[in-house]
Amino acid sequence: MLTGKRILLIIAGGIAAYKSLDLIRRLMDQGASVRCILTKAGAEFVTPLSVSALSGEKVFMDLFDLTDESDMGHIRLSREADLVVVAPATADIMAKMAGGHANDLASTALMATDKPVLIAPAMNVEMWNHPATQRNAATLASDGITLVGPAAGDLACGEVGQGRMVEVPDLIAAIQERLARATASLPLAGKRALVTSGPTREAIDPVRYLSNHSSGKQGHAIAAALAAAGAQTTLVSGPTSEPDPAGVTIVKIESARDMLAACEAALPADIAICAAAVADWRIAEEAGSKMKKNGGTPPPMAMVENPDILATLSQATDNRPRLVIGFAAETNDLIDNATKKRARKQCDWIVANDVSTGTGTFGGDENTVHLVTDDGVEDWPRLSKTGVAEQLTSRIASWLADRDT
Ligand code: C5P
Repeated sequence: MLTGKRILLIIAGGIAAYKSLDLIRRLMDQGASVRCILTKAGAEFVTPLSVSALSGEKVFMDLFDLTDESDMGHIRLSREADLVVVAPATADIMAKMAGGHANDLASTALMATDKPVLIAPAMNVEMWNHPATQRNAATLASDGITLVGPAAGDLACGEVGQGRMVEVPDLIAAIQERLARATASLPLAGKRALVTSGPTREAIDPVRYLSNHSSGKQGHAIAAALAAAGAQTTLVSGPTSEPDPAGVTIVKIESARDMLAACEAALPADIAICAAAVADWRIAEEAGSKMKKNGGTPPPMAMVENPDILATLSQATDNRPRLVIGFAAETNDLIDNATKKRARKQCDWIVANDVSTGTGTFGGDENTVHLVTDDGVEDWPRLSKTGVAEQLTSRIASWLADRDT
């Protein structure tokens, strides 16, 4: 139910913090990844060691931790999640949230997030009933924050009443419901996408291969952006050192022929984006054992053409994706070559990029692209590869929305 979902769990200081340890385990059992922020008071109830052992990740505690701020600051922490959960949410953290305070890592991440937030209040019954807490709860609800509980029952302080954190299964159900609602409202909800990325490797013999310098950065960024926009995304990737994007079904392949088979198996799809640098040729006959020098002339290496995945998907009579997008990596006559490539392969759009030496496109983090469509050529400014992916995703979403209405 929660496969690939990323949860940022903020554990504040309350006796119910022990339940959050179980929450981490159960979320992970359902396929979610969980990153935790432990407040100073939270660390009085559960130890950073148990939280990190259970989540399998570093625990984040300090706003002004120089190492964290350089590689995982509060902004990234709060954005690289599908949902932020505060459990237990104390009267204090609710007051901070309602007042917009940002003076520690938890409150700062809550202010900086652009993702849905769900909180599970837990406190003494009088604290919960206090007009200030009730005012804060109403403010948080009207700010769009989901409140789950508190439940009524025996409280740790010996009193009885409303104030218990809801039990973990109920919290999980609320998290699933909130994430499903968030996904349903995304621009590509209900759409299926297929992305190819990275190089292919064409075996010469069991230890050697032909390949290229593609890093897979652009293709992986596109798969991540499509998934973040709600598309059910399959990424068919050649060997890269890029991390697997969250929320994406990844199929790892080596050769062009494997890539084509994996793409065909992933159909039907509404959108196909071929960003892989597929080897144009392969060795006609792969040697069954390692080729030896033996002092003679080098072995002849006849080559045969590989299948063209973009052309195959574009020209399919069955199951052709509604929108097929190719890339044109060119070193000269960029637009002219891209326009011809679009006509030849019969894809709908081509993203043209200059990969000449000095552009830094291969393996770099930025890209300057031109979008070639039926309507002509659009020149995009230089963007990060993530920026290109996001802009392309929003173009795809409006193209589909225009046709679906
Ligand atoms: O023909 P060229 O390799 O320049 O075309 C680039 C576009 O075609 C890219 O979108 C690439 O992913 C795709 N392609 C493919 N299969 C091939 C060769 C290229 O899908 N065998």
